[in-house]
Amino acid sequence: MKPKQERCPPQALRFDDQAVDFDRRAGLPADACRAVAEAVAETAENLAIDLPGPLLDLGAGTGEIGVQLAHGKRPYLGLDLSVPMLASFRLKLADAAAQVPGTNSKVSPQVPGTNSKVSPQVPGTKSEVSPQVPGTWTAGTWTAGWLVCADADRRLPLADHSVAVVFSSRAVHLLGLRHLVEEIERLRRPQGALLLLGSVQRRPTSVRQVMRRQMRRLLAQQGYTGRSGDDGRARLHRALATKGWHGHPPRQVAEWTVKERPCDSLEAWDRKTGLAGWALDVQLRRRVLEELRSWARNHYGQLDATSTTTETYQLETLHWPGDT
Ligand SMILES: C[S@@+](CC[C@H](N)C(=O)[O-])C[C@H]1O[C@@H](n2cnc3c(N)ncnc32)[C@H](O)[C@@H]1O
Repeated sequence: MKPKQERCPPQALRFDDQAVDFDRRAGLPADACRAVAEAVAETAENLAIDLPGPLLDLGAGTGEIGVQLAHGKRPYLGLDLSVPMLASFRLKLADAAAQVPGTNSKVSPQVPGTNSKVSPQVPGTKSEVSPQVPGTWTAGTWTAGWLVCADADRRLPLADHSVAVVFSSRAVHLLGLRHLVEEIERLRRPQGALLLLGSVQRRPTSVRQVMRRQMRRLLAQQGYTGRSGDDGRARLHRALATKGWHGHPPRQVAEWTVKERPCDSLEAWDRKTGLAGWALDVQLRRRVLEELRSWARNHYGQLDATSTTTETYQLETLHWPGDT
């Protein structure tokens, strides 16, 4: 019988359960985060120099990259659906503020008017952002970034035409395409805007990629075809091109080496509620992972066989030239 196919509900995509060890398991090296943040800030300043307005980080997560952007020249707004992921981000902001002698932490309060559930404030931090409706940014009132808990698959709590730069790292493929395009079009400044999409690129022969392909093959045999980050970004590019956005060639902005083992991939999938974006029946899920485990044992000899590979971070830029 053909399975009833259900996408993971948003709760499952929230990364709530993964927040506590997200950085250890799926985080990027510190140097890479710095390089990415510098490349984002530099691109934003080069291409959007005359465009005032904040940088919106969609699916900001634990803020490995966002914490650097939050201390940049442009007002920073980190948005995510997951309270635990944002809580981890808050701690990074507080740590960063504590490292600057003589400054109070400037972790911001909730964005006024939003129903955000990010709490609690990092103890001992002092809010210094004046209450302001997003979209009415005024020079001089900005401090060190706002974090907003909101679902990007719904209307975002931001004013029309209030955003100059949207950055999203490893997140757009998790969002509904049509709504995302509508929101980007609604939020972009009429004078021009930028969209920066970040992704980690892995070698096709890396253990993670080989394991992922095999997992998707096994799921496809059960009637479930997955969506990848590459597909998600390509579909977004095509949709925005029809609205007049121009794509720039992607740039590699960081490179690092990692050690990887088949058991790490298995462990990561064991912990997830869904697989490749699908909410699977528990037994089917267990069966797929068991088949994958035995396939990997045959293929690699040992599940803890360690290999070294190179990963890179790619930044794609799309540019809205402005209403003529
Ligand atoms: C793979 S993480 C990437 C985090 C961060 N951008 C990075 O590169 O480290 C994806 C993030 O997207 C967030 N996310 C998923 N669906 C979302 C939605 N509908 N609205 C807002 N955030 C969402 C998750 O909670 C998670 O923090």
